[in-house]
Amino acid sequence: MDRQIVDHQVNGIRMSVLIEGSGPPLLLVHGFPLSHQMWRAQIDYFKNQYTVIAPDLRGFGDSEVTAGTVSMEQHAFDLNELLEQLQIKEPINYCGLSMGGYIAWEFWEHFPQKLHSLTLCDTRSDADTEEGVNTRLKMVDLVLRHGPEAVASAMIPNLLSETSQQQQPEIARNLITQIEATSPEGIAASQRGMAERKDFSKALKQIEVPALVIVGSEDLLTPPDIMQGIYSQLPQARYSEISEVGHMAPLEAPESVNLIMEDFLRSC
Ligand code: MLT
Repeated sequence: MDRQIVDHQVNGIRMSVLIEGSGPPLLLVHGFPLSHQMWRAQIDYFKNQYTVIAPDLRGFGDSEVTAGTVSMEQHAFDLNELLEQLQIKEPINYCGLSMGGYIAWEFWEHFPQKLHSLTLCDTRSDADTEEGVNTRLKMVDLVLRHGPEAVASAMIPNLLSETSQQQQPEIARNLITQIEATSPEGIAASQRGMAERKDFSKALKQIEVPALVIVGSEDLLTPPDIMQGIYSQLPQARYSEISEVGHMAPLEAPESVNLIMEDFLRSC
């Protein structure tokens, strides 16, 4: 299938999704506060082997916004409904980054039979600490008062390694543009949802699907020791750490991530 960006009515909202390619389904679930655009390099690489499905989650990109709180469970229900509407019958290869990983745990809990494999990039399985919750609520306040411009540039040092910031400045520019284009209510709603998310650490050993755990060696938000903890609990997992890369491994080191994913997906 040629590249299509289409809208679907999903659980009461309009959800925008990019679909391209043919073959087994590969669902790419973006991080916070981004959109499907963060997966550009993966879409281009995998469209020749997979049906790539890259949605904008509720409140992000071109999808409709709901105010209040959007839980990780709600995002998982939206993804399931989207797959139903796209008539994807086959179990999917789910790939999520950070918030996309938090949603993966919920997707697994509610729809385990719909998962063929799981790729988890720069994410965590535990819930927030009290301090973490407070930081999120401060950001909600800031974004609602002053807009996404107030947080976009400040987020970059946490998202990209020093090396990426120096050697690939266009990545930071691209991320800032994506964040600034995001609705303040959309950011606030998922930020509140992340603050309330469940702790899945104890459930990891029950996740029987093949899994790939990818992390940047300089990821400050979900560092390698966190990802090694996830890897050690998942029954069928592989682990890859990519050097000189931060929290956005698929953007900072697309060639490495694509090759690692390709090898993993072929083995599933
Ligand atoms: C993300 O990249 O999705 C965020 O870092 C997730 C978070 O804020 O915990």
